[in-house]
Amino acid sequence: MRIVLLGAPGSGKGTQAALLVRELDLPHISTGEVLRAAVKSDTLLGRKAKAVMDRGELVPDEVMLGLMDERLSQPDVQDGFILDGYPRNLAQAGALDELLERLGQPVDEALQIDVDQESVIRRIANRARREGRSDDSEEVARNRMKIYDEQTAPVVDYYAGKGVLSRVLGEGAVDEVFRRIRGVLQIRSR
Ligand code: AP5
Ligand code: MG
Repeated sequence: MRIVLLGAPGSGKGTQAALLVRELDLPHISTGEVLRAAVKSDTLLGRKAKAVMDRGELVPDEVMLGLMDERLSQPDVQDGFILDGYPRNLAQAGALDELLERLGQPVDEALQIDVDQESVIRRIANRARREGRSDDSEEVARNRMKIYDEQTAPVVDYYAGKGVLSRVLGEGAVDEVFRRIRGVLQIRSR
């Protein structure tokens, strides 16, 4: 199964992806994690991405596309994948479709996790205290939300138009949200 997880910063994409990986035994592809790892090991990609990420803006599409092209051509994604953090604008969504069409592996399910702005601000502030992720400061997190509203939110309609979108409420406990996601995926796989 090929799943795209959508949702605002802090909506729980990474958290729910980790649970889905255990259940479905599929690779989790988080573009944010890939970029943070590249920054940490100071690769060329990391150097290109760091300043952009620290402002809460989007890394250029051509960089992301190259990265996705390489990742989705690996043998471990043949039975499917859970994509978290990509696509983040309509250009990336179109490019992903082209790439997956070429590989004969279209997206089966786009899952939008809906969470209140208040909750995501609270969650990100909590994580900032616990983990110190460099883009979790209040100012940068607000910019990430603004970019989400302007550029990423339209991707939800894009998948709705393709007939593969489902929405789940992301409020409540982590396992409660996961139960909702499971319900949606069971319906889809019937
Ligand atoms: P990315 O890493 O994707 O960040 P994000 O979308 O801002 O999302 P987060 O990782 O902050 O949130 P999440 O939805 O994964 O929630 P999580 O499970 O962590 O991207 C970072 C940056 O990389 C971007 O700003 C951009 O610069 C760049 N980038 C990445 N992809 C790109 C792309 N395609 N194109 C261009 N640039 C790109 O949960 C958040 C917190 O809440 C955690 O602490 C968690 O423990 C907690 N939590 C989760 N669920 C619950 C719950 N139910 N109740 C209470 N707390 C909860
Ligand atoms: Mg994440």
